Amino acid sequence: MTAPKRYMVTSALPYANGPLHIGHIAGAMLPADIYVRHLRSAGEDVAFVCGSDEHGAAITLRAKKEGVTPKDIVDQYHELMKKTFAEFGIEFDIYDRTSSPEHHKNAQDFFLTLLEKGSFEVKTEEQYFDHEAQQFLADRYITGTCPKCGHDHAYGDQCENCGSALSPTDLIDPRSVLSGSKPELKETSLWYLPMGDHEDWLRDYIENGQFEGKSQHEVKEWKKHVIGQCKSWIDSGLQSRAMTRDLDWGVPVPVEGADGKVLYVWLDAPIGYITATQKWAKEHGKNWEDYWKSEDSHLVHFIGKDNIVFHCLIFPILLREHGDYVLPYNVPANEFMNLEGDKISTSRNWAVWLHEYLEEFPGKQDELRYVLASIMPEQKDSEFTWNDYKDRVNNELADILGNFINRAVVLTHKYYDGAVPAAGELLPQDEEMLQTIAATPEKVAKLIRGYRFREAQLEAMNLARAGNKYLTEEEPWKKIKEDPERVKTIMNICVQVAANLPYVLHPFLPNTSAKIASALGLNHLEWNEAGKSLLEPGTSIEKTPILFTKVDDELVSAQVAKLEEAKAASQERELEPVKANVPFEQFAGLDIRIAEILDAEPIKKTKKLLKLTIRTGVDERTVVSGIAEHYKPEEIIGKKVCVLLNLEPRKIKGVESQGMVLMAENAAGELSFVTAEKGAEPGDGVA
Ligand code: MF3
Ligand code: ZN
Repeated sequence: MTAPKRYMVTSALPYANGPLHIGHIAGAMLPADIYVRHLRSAGEDVAFVCGSDEHGAAITLRAKKEGVTPKDIVDQYHELMKKTFAEFGIEFDIYDRTSSPEHHKNAQDFFLTLLEKGSFEVKTEEQYFDHEAQQFLADRYITGTCPKCGHDHAYGDQCENCGSALSPTDLIDPRSVLSGSKPELKETSLWYLPMGDHEDWLRDYIENGQFEGKSQHEVKEWKKHVIGQCKSWIDSGLQSRAMTRDLDWGVPVPVEGADGKVLYVWLDAPIGYITATQKWAKEHGKNWEDYWKSEDSHLVHFIGKDNIVFHCLIFPILLREHGDYVLPYNVPANEFMNLEGDKISTSRNWAVWLHEYLEEFPGKQDELRYVLASIMPEQKDSEFTWNDYKDRVNNELADILGNFINRAVVLTHKYYDGAVPAAGELLPQDEEMLQTIAATPEKVAKLIRGYRFREAQLEAMNLARAGNKYLTEEEPWKKIKEDPERVKTIMNICVQVAANLPYVLHPFLPNTSAKIASALGLNHLEWNEAGKSLLEPGTSIEKTPILFTKVDDELVSAQVAKLEEAKAASQERELEPVKANVPFEQFAGLDIRIAEILDAEPIKKTKKLLKLTIRTGVDERTVVSGIAEHYKPEEIIGKKVCVLLNLEPRKIKGVESQGMVLMAENAAGELSFVTAEKGAEPGDGVA
């Protein structure tokens, strides 16, 4: 493979339906920013783009909830997100938006090219339609019971409980999210992408890094969980996916007679990366095709794990069908970051909002960047807590980095009036310190280029750790009287460590690095300069400002209390609308009874399912229940619970389920059994 001449780096376009939180940043923006800052300082040719994703149900449902137009929503949040990224120091070359006329045109042209090439299949079929809302229902507009796991809040595109990809017509007991009513089928036509036709080359691309006989990327550089997810999609057979929707918000389908139809948001949004690049290139005298169509360009998508299928399978199909484009070189998806023991959630207001952090902690962008990079969910989910934030700021940033820089600079001023002393004869510990300086940049670079940002930051910080240890062990303050020559060497080396730190730390801590660099008179932090003694004897250095202040326990408890309050306020939650009326006979047809749980065991290879043996009074039978994350098998044996007995038996993960245990679900998504308050025996009826 030829060495790349260019890097085309993207961060997933966040939906413009709410403010940014630490989950967005840790997932898709901070790793990309670290990567790009490194590449730029190493002299690489990089384009780094992002923007607001302004179409799709995320936007229209939010608008409906707030009683405003979708345009009001995207205008408001686009501006907020753009400002927040700039303040936080995510250095996109451009932060664009998908509602722009340029993007609409570009996405339409892309669609037309594919249409001409015969990449789509038109199907006329029955789709769910909500007569009350006068709208077709797909994706997040429709909810119902998952046919795979029985979860009763699956959406028309996906079940968030078991992760299955779904179509609206797969849902059992479908309901409109807009009105709560039971939708009816109505005919319409849609353009489908027959993904099944692409299985063979996709498999080769994902598993072997091959694409049309050419080596496309080093498979071993891809994250295991990304490859695993793609393989399991391909193995279970790729279904055709509709690329248009019958909606009035989105990019209009540019075909005559297609009024009221728009492009599927997951078709238009990734094309947004291309539109953004075109716009940036035009404004900067560059050629966008160098980044998207030239074989020597590396296309790297930074995303969260819920976006894997779109970036690793669907978008590559679109790019290949269009022709001339490179395929993603890597898609280093991150897993999720939780917060104080719970999932981050916009609707439950359980999040650290970036714009609030910037307001409450002015000038402390680097502290948050550092903590988020330290716990970045690279291989598995991770957790942010304010206590951990405090520990890392105090024990690592302040006590190691801040303390070392401060001592090195202050002592140079005290002993030599701020002029770097010359080193004399070197002792083994001096050689060792110099070797650490020399070895660090390459180690850090390698880790960054391998998308291992946690380790990369750790390695860069290890240089400060080593400097701190060296200074503490050499104790120049004890030697300055009797051995001033020795102290010159020690201090020269300390200053060289200090001077190297901004080079290796700036991708992670840009503001702090700039402060150190400016005090030491270092201008351009070019990566290739790092690793050696950077300051000549006699150079005078300035005192650095205090780099980090310590965080106290009060701040931690105040932030945790703020979270709890916000969550409590949001628990006055919006409930689902009442379902449509049913005739009494339909209700009377349900056979619900008390049953006793005799036995319970986990179903292998599932996280949520338990196989229950129950005594119903009339018989003993097996029921599969999605409660494994809420109850341990041993704690439920003997419980008397409500069971729907005459639900049609269904096979779930190979086990036939003969009924359904009724569960109550609270706002936090916790499940609990429904039981008879005064006690009841197996076989007793519930009505
Ligand atoms: N808005 C999507 C999300 O938040 C991500 C879109 S990424 C793009 O999940 F590729 F479609 F742009
Ligand atoms: Zn499911």
